[in-house]
Amino acid sequence: MHHTRHIQNLALIGFMGAGKSSVGRLIAEQLHFTFLDTDELIVASVGKSITEIFAQQGEAAFRELERKVVEELTGRTETVISTGGGMPVNPANLVCLKSHALVVCLWASPEKIWANVREQTHRPLFNVPDPQAKIRELLAAREPFYRQADVLVNTELRSAREVAQQVIHHFRSALAGQK
Ligand code: S3P
Repeated sequence: MHHTRHIQNLALIGFMGAGKSSVGRLIAEQLHFTFLDTDELIVASVGKSITEIFAQQGEAAFRELERKVVEELTGRTETVISTGGGMPVNPANLVCLKSHALVVCLWASPEKIWANVREQTHRPLFNVPDPQAKIRELLAAREPFYRQADVLVNTELRSAREVAQQVIHHFRSALAGQK
């Protein structure tokens, strides 16, 4: 399949708790773009929470819903797309996103991720006896996929606002380079 690249959107990828949704919202506000989150689109289309989908239908079914949602985003314009942490593991998803979006990965260390997610309960993958070990294991397994982003932004010592600025800068350069 051949994809001519025409960047009109911005997609954020990266691990759970790296700040995709909060940074994505800030960017959308500043660029006057629409904000969409693939998890939210899945929840709205199925009428179940992510936890319920994993528990009742299993992870494979969730991945299929995720793939469909990503495919349906083709044709969007002026949209910031925040994606689930496991989305890039299916290579077709990144191919699809890259045809219309600049793909930016928000990178964070396992320690920072743990600090961001430890008080939260909505992520079924962390519903295990040792979530910190799970973070390290999943992050290592996914690193090769995250590295396929167009741009990697380290979120470690930056506020969400600073990360948003950095991403916007990369996005504007990409748009300028495409003219
Ligand atoms: C997942 C990340 C979640 C959500 C699901 C699975 C993952 O999204 O899609 O719980 O496999 O990393 P966030 O990255 O927005 O938490």
